[in-house]
Amino acid sequence: MLFSRILRLPSNDMAIDLGTVNTVVYVRGKGIVLNEPSVVALETIDGVRRVKAVGRDAKLMMGKTPAHIQAVRPLRDGVIADIDVAEQMIKHFIDRAHGGPSRLGRHPEIVVCVPSGSTSVERRAIRDAATNAGASRVWLIEEPMAAAIGAGLPVTEPVGAMVVDIGGGTTEVAILSLHGLAYSTSIRVGGDKMDDAIAAVVRRKHNLMIGETTAERIKHEIGSALPPRGEAVTIRVRGRHLSAGMPQEIFISEAEIADALAEPVSHIVGAVRTALENTAPELAADIVDRGIVLTGGGALLKRMDEALSNATGLPVAVADDPLTCVAMGAGRALEDLDYRGVLSEA
Ligand SMILES: Nc1ncnc2c1ncn2[C@@H]1O[C@H](COP(=O)(O)OP(=O)(O)OP(=O)(O)O)[C@@H](O)[C@H]1O
Ligand SMILES: [Mg+2]
Repeated sequence: MLFSRILRLPSNDMAIDLGTVNTVVYVRGKGIVLNEPSVVALETIDGVRRVKAVGRDAKLMMGKTPAHIQAVRPLRDGVIADIDVAEQMIKHFIDRAHGGPSRLGRHPEIVVCVPSGSTSVERRAIRDAATNAGASRVWLIEEPMAAAIGAGLPVTEPVGAMVVDIGGGTTEVAILSLHGLAYSTSIRVGGDKMDDAIAAVVRRKHNLMIGETTAERIKHEIGSALPPRGEAVTIRVRGRHLSAGMPQEIFISEAEIADALAEPVSHIVGAVRTALENTAPELAADIVDRGIVLTGGGALLKRMDEALSNATGLPVAVADDPLTCVAMGAGRALEDLDYRGVLSEA
C-alpha cells in the first residue's frame, strides 16, 4: 500500500503550503520548520540569471532593486505563474527545511497543498516543480481540507464543518464532512486584491503612487473589513506624487481604507453566502450549530469575522495561528493514518 510506505519512512518527509504570499514547511516529527515570504530575488549578470536571495531577504528587496536585480513572486492568484523560478524557490526551501542540501540524504516524499479549484495543468506544474526539487513522490491535499484539519475541525466525522481560508491570492470556501469536500469554491480574491484596492484609492484620491509593500503595511496597520466606529485613526504614508513626480507624504484615514476594502471584502462575503445557499439541509444545520472558522492571513484583517457574521447570522471564529493552519493540517495528514484518505497522489 502506498500509504503504509509513507508512514514507514523516517523524518525526511514534509508538507509544504506553497502560498501566493508565504510558504510554510512542516517536517515529519518536527512540525513547522520554515515560514517565509514566497519571493525570489534574481540577479542577471552577462545575460545569465541566477538566484540572489529567497524568502525574507528577497522580500526586503521588493520594489527597491537596482536594474540588474529583480525581486519576483513566482505565484499569483494561488497558482504558479513562473515555473522555473517556483522550482528554484521550492528547492531552496526544501534544502533549508533540512538544514542545508548536504543533510538531505534520500529524497523525501512531499505533500503539497493545492487550491480546491486548481486545474490538472496547475496540479501537474506543482508536481513537476516538487519532483525537480528532489521529491521522490508527491501527494496533493486540497487547501481547505488542510486548513480544516489544521484548525481542528472534525473532518473525519459525519458532521458538517465550514472553513474559509483567506490567503494572499485566493479565498477558499468549503463545507467538509467525512474526509471530503461537500462543497468548495475558490475565488481569486484575497490579501493581494486588498493591497491593490488600497494602492488604487491612494492613487485616485491623493495622487500618490505607492508600492505593494506599502499598501500591505497600510492594510496591516489600519485596514478593516467594516467602516470605523467613532474616532478614526490616521497614518502617514509616503510615495511618489503622480504629477509632480516627487517623493511626498500624505495622511490617510481608516475610513478611506475601509472604503477601499469594501469591494474585495464583499466578494468574500458573497462567496460565503453562495456556499451556504448551496448546502444540503443537514449539513447547514450542523453549520448553524458550529459556525464558520476562518484561516489564512486575511482572517487577521480587523473585523473580518464580524463582517461575515453580520452577513450570515452565524458565529464566526478565527483559528489559532491562521497563517500556519494549512501547513499544520497538511503535516497532520502526512503523519496521522486517520487522515490518509484526504491525500491523493499527484
Ligand atoms: N494582520 C493582518 N491584517 C490583514 N491582512 C493580513 C494580516 N496579516 C497577514 N495578512 C495578509 O494575509 C495574506 C497572506 O496570507 P497567507 O499566508 O494565508 O496567504 P498564502 O497562503 O500565501 O496565499 P494563498 O493561500 O492565496 O496562496 C497577505 O495578503 C497578508 O497581507
Ligand atoms: Mg494559503
